[in-house]
Amino acid sequence: MPYLLGLDSSTTATKALLIDEKGRVLGVASSHYDYETPHPLWTEQHPELWWEGTVSSIRKLIDELDVDPNQITGIGLTGQMHGLVLLDNNQEVLRPALLWNDQRTGSQCNTIRTRLGKENLIAITGNDALTGFTAPKIVWVQEEEPDIYARARHILLPKDYVRLKLTGELASDKAGAAGTLLFDVAKRDWSPEVLKALDINPSFMPQTFEGTEVTGRLTREASIATGLPSGIPVVGGGGDQAAQAVGVGAVKEGIVALTLGTSGVIFASSNTPAIEPDGRLHAFCHAVPDRWHMMGVMLSAAGSLRWYRDTTAPDVSFADLSQEVESVPPGCEGLLFLPYLTGERTPHPDPYARGAFIGLTVRHQRKHMTRAVLEGVGFGLKDSFTLIEGSGLPKAERVLISGGGAKSPQWRQILADILNAELSTVNTAEGAAFGAALLAGIGAGVWPDIDAAHNEVIKVTGTTKPNPASAERYDIFYRLYRELYPALKPANDAIAKMVLEQ
Ligand code: XUL
Repeated sequence: MPYLLGLDSSTTATKALLIDEKGRVLGVASSHYDYETPHPLWTEQHPELWWEGTVSSIRKLIDELDVDPNQITGIGLTGQMHGLVLLDNNQEVLRPALLWNDQRTGSQCNTIRTRLGKENLIAITGNDALTGFTAPKIVWVQEEEPDIYARARHILLPKDYVRLKLTGELASDKAGAAGTLLFDVAKRDWSPEVLKALDINPSFMPQTFEGTEVTGRLTREASIATGLPSGIPVVGGGGDQAAQAVGVGAVKEGIVALTLGTSGVIFASSNTPAIEPDGRLHAFCHAVPDRWHMMGVMLSAAGSLRWYRDTTAPDVSFADLSQEVESVPPGCEGLLFLPYLTGERTPHPDPYARGAFIGLTVRHQRKHMTRAVLEGVGFGLKDSFTLIEGSGLPKAERVLISGGGAKSPQWRQILADILNAELSTVNTAEGAAFGAALLAGIGAGVWPDIDAAHNEVIKVTGTTKPNPASAERYDIFYRLYRELYPALKPANDAIAKMVLEQ
């Protein structure tokens, strides 16, 4: 019986997941790590952590399951997107990777817009220059660490560093590559125009593959490190959002994926390279051939709830905390929460945006504040949902909700009411690693294509319908919410300036 391995190198852990040819999860193992914040707005991680995490989670998984590693016929990779890994001539890491949530590159984003023209940049890459993306990170190293850049010969994304260690190949997937801002999304290849404008030698960029294509095979060295047999094919895989969408079954027009993880994502697939002309939504290649997607990303979704719980009620479980909100009416008696705890991307690409509770009175108790956090995240997601609805893509027939936050029935109801949409849950809860394993299954010939894999594997397990009265009430609060970001922007900019100058 063939087994498929999905590997997800996220910001906080590497996860190894094994499935069989029916898509049943046989086991999961994770190895956790941290990232550094050496300066305000900076986040960095050493690539070696991803490799060590990969080796130890594969070894844990195989030991715990007691499976024969010879039965593993394909490996799929996924992981945090946008991070910059710079390698020298000997393929050695030159400096810690700059991560997707690093916000240091505001001025480099302006440089990129100036060199290419914002409209032209969006027309080619599908996206405006955002601090999270890879290209501004490269420009930052060119400007601030020219000695390091002078030694650079290869540019990789985080999961592609793991690929290099597994297969010895310098390669990337098209979904991940689209998140660099160096990719021509319609042509599904690196853009010579963008590379030239940013003085990036095209030979630094790896060859790109579709998510289901084989990019290389496990080397003898990787076999010794992991305990897996050499020769297993490793497919392109995809950035975590595209792989997550594959994992829940969101690869067709009309199916929207809502992911409530640390970040919050509204993701819609497309059969054509659709872009949003103002670049407020991300427009990337999907992890399956000839499909694309648009998505809105809020940076602190379930991350907001985690921060709130850890800060105010560290001993209370998420389930108990969510339960408390049932006795609070929609709108929390006039309390609103802005979830911009780590800046924001969609629809406000602003590293200096800050979180806030607005409307606090002595009547408000913990349960009101908790509900305000859940609702504030919902309003932020509605911003992206509305942009997707207005993007010209076919209307959403089904919204599939997943991610840690989706476990809360109270939060699912709040989101269904705020979005005024029915939300469905599916049987595949293992996220991006699961999607990567499905992509590996196609590369290894277990399924002919992604539709066949989904028909075999994914089932809807439940739905949450919107309550019309609450939906109407939330429309009023959403209008108020929309006014708060612009109203607070001058104050937040001034605060950021003060803090950065300290
Ligand atoms: C997507 C994004 C995040 C990271 C971290 O654009 O930035 O999903 O990939 O997981």
